[in-house]
Amino acid sequence: MLSLILHLSLILCVYCDLSEYKSKRDKLIQDEYRLTLGGNINLTEKETIVNNCIMKYKFLEVDYGFTNPKYFNFSHHYFSYKEKIRYSKVYQIIKDMPKGAALHVHDMGILGPDYLMNITYMDNLYVCFDRNVNLKFSNKPPNIPCDGEWQLVSKIRDTCGNITKFDAKLRKHFSLVVENPDIVYPSITESWNTFMNYFVTVAPMLTYRPIWEQYFYDVLYKFRENNIMYVEVRSILPKLYELDGTEYDPLITAKAYRKAITRFTKDYPDFVGAKLIYAPSRQVDNVTVEEYLKLAKILKKDVPEIFAGFDLVGQEDLGSPLIEFLPQLVAARDEINYFFHAGETDWYGTSTDDNLFDAILLGAKRLGHAYALPKHPLLMKEVINNDIGLEVNVISNTVLSLVRDVRNHPLNIFLAHGLPVVLSSDDPGAWEADPISEDYYVAFVGVASRVSDLRMLKALAMNSLKYSALDGNNKANAIKKFTVSWNDFVEKFNCASY
Ligand SMILES: *[C@@H]1O[C@H](CO)[C@@H](O)[C@H](O)[C@H]1NC(C)=O
Ligand SMILES: *[C@@H]1O[C@H](CO)[C@@H](O)[C@H](O)[C@H]1NC(C)=O
Ligand SMILES: *[C@@H]1O[C@H](CO)[C@@H](O)[C@H](O)[C@H]1NC(C)=O
Ligand SMILES: *[C@@H]1O[C@H](CO)[C@@H](O)[C@H](O)[C@H]1NC(C)=O
Ligand SMILES: *[C@@H]1O[C@H](CO)[C@@H](O)[C@H](O)[C@H]1NC(C)=O
Ligand SMILES: [Zn+2]
Repeated sequence: MLSLILHLSLILCVYCDLSEYKSKRDKLIQDEYRLTLGGNINLTEKETIVNNCIMKYKFLEVDYGFTNPKYFNFSHHYFSYKEKIRYSKVYQIIKDMPKGAALHVHDMGILGPDYLMNITYMDNLYVCFDRNVNLKFSNKPPNIPCDGEWQLVSKIRDTCGNITKFDAKLRKHFSLVVENPDIVYPSITESWNTFMNYFVTVAPMLTYRPIWEQYFYDVLYKFRENNIMYVEVRSILPKLYELDGTEYDPLITAKAYRKAITRFTKDYPDFVGAKLIYAPSRQVDNVTVEEYLKLAKILKKDVPEIFAGFDLVGQEDLGSPLIEFLPQLVAARDEINYFFHAGETDWYGTSTDDNLFDAILLGAKRLGHAYALPKHPLLMKEVINNDIGLEVNVISNTVLSLVRDVRNHPLNIFLAHGLPVVLSSDDPGAWEADPISEDYYVAFVGVASRVSDLRMLKALAMNSLKYSALDGNNKANAIKKFTVSWNDFVEKFNCASY
C-alpha cells in the first residue's frame, strides 16, 4: 500500500515537472523568437493569409531539404540551382512583394550579360581581343594599346560566319556564371580576378555618355519591376566620353545620374528615387584618398539632392585597410557620411577584419557586408547602440567565395539578434541574378530560421527605408508610400495564383 502511494506520487510529480518544463520551454522559444528581426510584429488578419501561404511553401522547401540534405539546393553553389529559382512559389511571392529599397549595389554590376550584349549591337563599337576583350565606342579605331587589332564589332559580325558562336564567346566576358564553378573558382583569388576582369571589360562600354545616361534609367526600371521603390547606388564615378574621345570629369558622371533619376521619377511617380554613394577603389595611396574626399565634398555641394556619402571598394583582403587613411578619413568625417565596406572576409584577426573597428569608430552610417561581425562581441554592441545598418548580400558572398553552404552565413546570427539588417544584391548582373528578389529568396529560405516568416520579410523591407540616406521628410514619405503598396499587395494577394 505504502509503495503504491509512493509510486503514484512519483508519477504525479514527474508529470507536474514535465508540464512546468514544457511551459518554460515554450516561453523561452517564444521570447527568443521575439528577439529575431520582425519577431515582435503583429500581423493583421489579411497579412496572416499571405503568411500562411508563403510559409506553406517555405516549409515544403526546407523540410524536403531536411529529409534529403543532398538535394538541399542552398548548400550547393548558387550557379547549380539559380535557373530553378524562378519555379519556386516562395520566390514568386517574394518577387511580387514590395521590398522597399536596395542600399548596396554597384552601378556597373547590376544589369546582366543579355543587357550588355544588346549594347554590343549598337553602332560605333570597336573591339580588340588580347588576353582580355577590350571594347570602346569611337568614331575611328581607338588609340588604345592592345595586342590585337581594333575592329568594329558590326564588321566582325558581318564577316565571322557564325554570329551565334561569336556572341557566345563575347557574352562569357560579361558574366561570372560557369557550369563548373568548383573547378573554375577554387578560391577567392580566382572569383575576384574574374570579377575584376568583368569590370575592366564592361566599364569602357558603359561609360560612353549616351549609354550611361540610359543605363541607370534601365537599372531603376529593373528594380521597380522587382518591387523596389528606392535605390542607393555605389559608383567609382568613371569618366564619361564621347565618340571623338572627349572625356568629362567625374562631376559630369554624377550629374548624368541626377538626370537619369529625374527622368525616371517623372515617368514613374510611384518610384521614390535614388541616391549616389561615391565609392572609388581602396587600392590607392593616402594622397589619392585625399583627392577622393575633395571630390566628395564637391559632390555634396553641387548635387546635394542625390549625394549620400562615401565608401571605398575592391577586394578588401588586397586593398589598403581603412586605418591607412585615418588622417584623411577623420578630417572629413564631420562633413561626409560614410558607408564603408567592412569585414567582407573569412580571415579572422587580419587587417581586413580590423576594418570593422575603423568603420564603426569613423562613424559609418551603415556597414557594407559586415560579414565578420559576429566574431566581435563589442562591435556587435556598437552596431546596436549606434543603430548602424548592416548591408548583407548573401549571393555575392557565396559567388565571391566567402561561404558555400548559406546555412552557415552569419546573416542568421544577425537576424537572431534582431540587428538592423538590410538585404541587398551587390552586383547581381555579374552573376546573372535578378536585381534583388533572388537575394531575398535565398536569405529567407536558405539562411533564416525555418520558422521566420512574413514578419521578418516585412521588417527587412521596412529596414531598407529606415536605414536609407533619405532625410526626415523624404524618409517619412517613402515609408508612407511603402505602406500603401504593402497594403495593396496584401489586399490583392491570392495564394491560388502562385
Ligand atoms: C503585439 O501584440 C502583443 C499582444 O497582443 C502586444 O503585447 C504587443 O505590444 C504587440 N506588438 C506590437 C509591435 O504592436
Ligand atoms: C532544388 O532543385 C530541385 C530541382 O533539381 C527542385 O526540384 C527542388 O524543389 C529544389 N529543392 C528545394 C529544397 O528547393
Ligand atoms: C535586347 O534587345 C531586344 C531587342 O530590342 C529586346 O527585346 C530585349 O528585351 C533586350 N534584352 C535586354 C536584356 O535588355
Ligand atoms: C555556330 O556556332 C554554334 C555554337 O558554337 C553551333 O552550335 C552552330 O552549329 C554553328 N552554326 C553553324 C552554321 O556552323
Ligand atoms: C601618406 O603616407 C606616407 C607614408 O605611407 C606618409 O609619409 C605621408 O605623410 C602621408 N601623407 C598624408 C597626406 O597623409
Ligand atoms: Zn559591395
